[in-house]
Amino acid sequence: MTLSELPRSTSGRSPLDVARMAASEAGRIVLARFRRAQEIEVKGRGNLVTQADHEAERAIARVVAEEFPDHGVYGEETQDAQSFDGWVWVVDPLDGTRNYVSGVPFFCVNIALCHDGEPVIGLTYDPNHNEAFWAQTGIGAYVDGKPIRASDRPDVQSSVLGMDLGYNDVTGKRTLQLAVDIFPNVQCIRVPGSAALGLAYAAAGRWDLFVHNNVYPWDIAAGIILVREAGGVITAADGGPVSIHSGGFVAGGPAVHADFMRRYAGGWTSK
Ligand code: IPD
Ligand code: CA
Ligand code: CA
Repeated sequence: MTLSELPRSTSGRSPLDVARMAASEAGRIVLARFRRAQEIEVKGRGNLVTQADHEAERAIARVVAEEFPDHGVYGEETQDAQSFDGWVWVVDPLDGTRNYVSGVPFFCVNIALCHDGEPVIGLTYDPNHNEAFWAQTGIGAYVDGKPIRASDRPDVQSSVLGMDLGYNDVTGKRTLQLAVDIFPNVQCIRVPGSAALGLAYAAAGRWDLFVHNNVYPWDIAAGIILVREAGGVITAADGGPVSIHSGGFVAGGPAVHADFMRRYAGGWTSK
């Protein structure tokens, strides 16, 4: 997909500008309700949905419908798009809802534009720090206008490792077992509670490697392009080719990713 093939919106905006508009609107909604009483639904153990999730998703869908009426929207809370053929916006209106409900300021709005299931634009917006991580195929990855690069650490031993557990008990336990297998041969391990912001941090080299074994398209779509355009490597959890449907990932600097695959790849997806 070359730049000239990217569509323009009804108001003449680029898809990236539309993603920015939608994310900032969703971020405003999410922050306005942060640490305030609101209705909360329980999807499962630790898996919550708030009014803010729903309102932010509606706001993003509204912006996309106005600007790109012929595009699909596949958001976590509605999953409207019937297929991933053509142009589809893959959206997590609030990633890190468990943190959000606990008043922990580590969550984000996650938006990707995909063509036939392949992310071409990714934008991960952290409203607490007003940081927008974005990437576009062939253009690079940036945070607030400055280029970002994935880690150049040589190995797991010298790395900060991020991981998240998801809401599946079996895959979550495997990931914890991975931590037990690795520790203490690592600088430290972080469990941030937002898969999407965690991926953006891996793209920016804030941690050297980030792994997850239970994600959905809306968690991973923006991160795939962020990490790639930042010069990093992202694969499925077993080391195979990644896609928005992979269900897991290993993402970070090329050398530490290769070292992780050499030492640990066999265990954590199959134990
Ligand atoms: C979840 C968060 C969490 C991750 C889960 C995700 P949500 O998304 O990113 O950190 O471990 O796998 O489902 O429910 O907050 O949008
Ligand atoms: Ca999510
Ligand atoms: Ca969510």
